[in-house]
This record gives sequence, structure tokens and C-alpha cells, in this order.
Amino acid sequence: MNQRITVSKTTASRLDTVDFNRLGFGLQFSDHMFQMVYEDGRWHSPEIIPYQPIPHEPANTTLHYGQTVFEGLKAFYAKSGVNVFRPDKHATRLLNSCERMCIPVFEKEYFTEAIDLLVQIDYDWIPRQRGHALYIRPLIYSIGNFLGVKESDTYRFLIMTSPVASYYEEGLSPVKILATDKYVRAVKGGTGSAKTAGNYAASLYAAREAKKMGYTQVLWLDAIHHEYIEEVGTMNIFFLINDELVTPPLSGTILPGVTRDSVLTLGREWGMNVSEREISIKEVFAAAKDGTLQEMFGTGTAAVISPVGKLRYRDDEVIINNFEIGPVAQKFYDEITAIQYGEKEDAHGWIHHVEIASEVLA
Ligand code: COI
Repeated sequence: MNQRITVSKTTASRLDTVDFNRLGFGLQFSDHMFQMVYEDGRWHSPEIIPYQPIPHEPANTTLHYGQTVFEGLKAFYAKSGVNVFRPDKHATRLLNSCERMCIPVFEKEYFTEAIDLLVQIDYDWIPRQRGHALYIRPLIYSIGNFLGVKESDTYRFLIMTSPVASYYEEGLSPVKILATDKYVRAVKGGTGSAKTAGNYAASLYAAREAKKMGYTQVLWLDAIHHEYIEEVGTMNIFFLINDELVTPPLSGTILPGVTRDSVLTLGREWGMNVSEREISIKEVFAAAKDGTLQEMFGTGTAAVISPVGKLRYRDDEVIINNFEIGPVAQKFYDEITAIQYGEKEDAHGWIHHVEIASEVLA
């Protein structure tokens, strides 16, 4: 890192406007944010400044063509400091998303150093309640002002943070999922494995239809055969069938989830029969009908582990595990959250612990 991050603190904290008993997800933003700009072929002027609106010209290229990438990771209140979960893995994924979207890469140290500073400066914004966290949202977007479809030569890198409760209203209760073969999320060769705005914008129409029918989210199928399972709206998806833990492989169309990776790692260590393989919607319904579909759950940073209690595809609908969280989903949730909150040993080096100065803790 060749430039130091400068810090300008707010003189008017908004902390006392936050009701920590009613956080919701991503609705309020901590006092400070990180920003850095790319111009003249280099990232420069990294700084922490008060969270604030940013003016943009109507011709801003992100608004028109969506040349932008983001990340989502979490920091947890832990004794004597803060535990940031797998920041290195998130930084790598952000760099991969940058590459796919033609955004110039940054030095990884900025990512971790900026997060360290933000969680120290906005330490009081980290929710104390078990199950809540400080959600960290890095965002990089083009700030060129022109209408031609081409790479921009100027970009802004922001990191904002938000105290959050569960992503779904359901919390750890099961969600209802609608599998669709009418719409697709991504196709091989597309941008499905990058964390970029367009993937999420493209999901909204199907999500709206699912909501109208009483479902929480959409389960995407592959774009060619409309048969193989990909992922759920904001999560990767797992099935427990006949004691085999199955999740679709990373074939370029789904997001390489960090929680997905953590579940795979733990499952293998626990001696489970773990497979990253293609799984069709037919196989899932056949397993549900013959009684071998034991559990289905989603994984994601925002949602952590989210059990699926009801699955619909065309005119067929099944209830999974009596619409209750299953023992395997519960075990993953308990293990991952215990590591995140520092209650269990971090045998994998997943926690980046940030000490907070004793005068702040006092
Ligand atoms: C996450 O799990 O962090 C996500 O990015 C999901 C989302 C809120 C877009």
C-alpha cells in the first residue's frame, strides 16, 4: 500500500437515531465511510470521511451501463474487539468481480486496512446482540460521464457499513422458495459469478412474481436446459439427500459464496458425504416424494444459513422437514456463528480480529 488512508471524523454522530432493537437489514448507515478514486491510471487519495451523499452527473456511466461491483461481509462484536469474517476471501472475490467488469484492480491491503479503520472508528455502531452484526458493503463503480458503451477511465471505491439484524423477516425460520423455469439469472459466459449490480436488477421481476404468490425468493435453474439448480436470489443452495450434502458446482454462473465455502469445509471436516455436483429440480422433487430429501437450506453472508421449508416448481409443491429447521442446517448455523462471535476456536484462520483501544472500550 503506497498511500496512507487519511481520516476526517464527523462532528455530528447519528448513532443516537438508531433503534438497535429494530434494525432490519441495510436500512441505516454508520457515521463514516471509506473512499478512494481511480484517475490518471491509478487509485489515489484513500480516505475515511463522514458518510454522505455523493453528487453525480446525469451522464454517469454506472447509472446507464452498470459498470460496478460490490461485496458484502460482516463484522461481529467480540470481547475486546471486533471479528471480521474472512475479509481476505471477500477481497479476492471483489478483485475477480473487478476483472470481469473491466474495473481496475486495487491493492488488497486497502481493503483490509480500510475495514480495520472503519470498525475501530464506528465501533459503537456494531450491534451487541447475538445474531446481529455490522454489515460491510464495499462498492466500486465507474464515474465517467459519457454515453458511449466503453470502459470508463475513472472509478470510485467506497466502503460503507450498516448495523443489521437478520436478512429475512423469517430469521432462522424456514423460507418458502419458488423454482422458476420462466426466467433465468445467468448463462455460462455471462456475469453470473461476479458480484455486479446487473445480476441483482435482473432478478427483481421474478422475485416480484414469487412474492405475489407468497414465496420469499426464487430458485434459479440453468439457462440452457432449465433443469439444473443454480442458486437462490441472494444465497447459494444446499440439499441433504440420503445423507449426501449436495450443492451445485462453481461453473461460472453462480456466485462463489464465502458461506458456501465455509459450509463445504466444515461438512468435509465433520466426515459428511459432501458433493459439489449438478443436481436437477427433478431429482430434488423425486427425493422429496420418496422421503430422502432430509433438508434444504441457503447460505450467504447476509442470511448466514436459511432453511427452506417449502419448495414449489410448476404445479408441484413439497414441504421439507415439516417446515422446521433441520439438525444439519442448525449445526452449520451454530458452528459458523460461534466462530464469528469468537465463542469457538477459529481453527481455519477465518477471523480477522481487530483490537479496539482500551479507552474506546472503557
Ligand atoms: C450477501 O449475502 O452479502 C449479499 O450480497 C446478499 C445481498 C444482500 C445482495
